[in-house]
Amino acid sequence: MIIGKNVILHHMNPDTVQDIYDILHSDEASGKGFLERDIYYLNEIARIKPREREGSFLLIKERSSQKNMGVIFYQLKLKHLQATFGIIILKDFQKKELGLEAHDLMVKYLFDSYPIQKMEGPITAKNKPSLIAAQKAGYKIEGVIRNTWFHDGELHDLIYIGLLREEFFARINNKDVSDQLNSPLKIVEKEMSYERSFIKKN
Ligand SMILES: CC(C)(COP(=O)(O)OP(=O)(O)OC[C@H]1O[C@@H](n2cnc3c(N)ncnc32)[C@H](O)[C@@H]1OP(=O)(O)O)[C@@H](O)C(=O)NCCC(=O)NCCS
Repeated sequence: MIIGKNVILHHMNPDTVQDIYDILHSDEASGKGFLERDIYYLNEIARIKPREREGSFLLIKERSSQKNMGVIFYQLKLKHLQATFGIIILKDFQKKELGLEAHDLMVKYLFDSYPIQKMEGPITAKNKPSLIAAQKAGYKIEGVIRNTWFHDGELHDLIYIGLLREEFFARINNKDVSDQLNSPLKIVEKEMSYERSFIKKN
């Protein structure tokens, strides 16, 4: 569990697979293409200990109400010292900066836990809210690959975005954000104690 000021992230386990599946197949996720996963795949991952997963899904709960409010997931590419991610915030919880907080908690968890140097990934060019949210989180546009993602009968451009480790920490060390992240941030899952020698301090 990763606890922030307003949101809590729970690594997927067998009890939360169905909730995560439902969010990945909600209206908010529809048309995004990257986010579809079948229940068998999710169950397979849920059986692996979080620290042994190459990627994971985390259920995002609003801290005050304990309601499910979204899903965030990552895929490690350790060979290249990178990770990619995706996020869905359910409609009732959007535009309250909860997505940004969940993102920051997860990225801090990844940078603190693995020697990765960069978060990166594609966004479909039509997904303007996502692009704006990513830029707000500090991502830079690194390139556009034209007509490369065939989804819902159409070819889409993909915009590749990236966030370097030092850019992330420069942003969260700004007071407003660090108030939100550092003081209430408690990593309470026991798997966080694993392989400390592997952890590269920022
Ligand atoms: C993209 C998404 C995750 C943003 O989550 P969110 O919690 O609403 O975002 P936040 O409230 O943290 O917003 C952060 C910034 O993003 C921008 N933003 C978010 N939603 C926006 C929208 N619909 N239109 C324009 N800008 C938007 C704003 O600039 C906001 O900054 P501000 O508060 O200064 O205005 C959410 O809209 C979503 O789940 N969309 C559907 C799934 C998806 O597209 N996921 C991304 C692809 S993996």
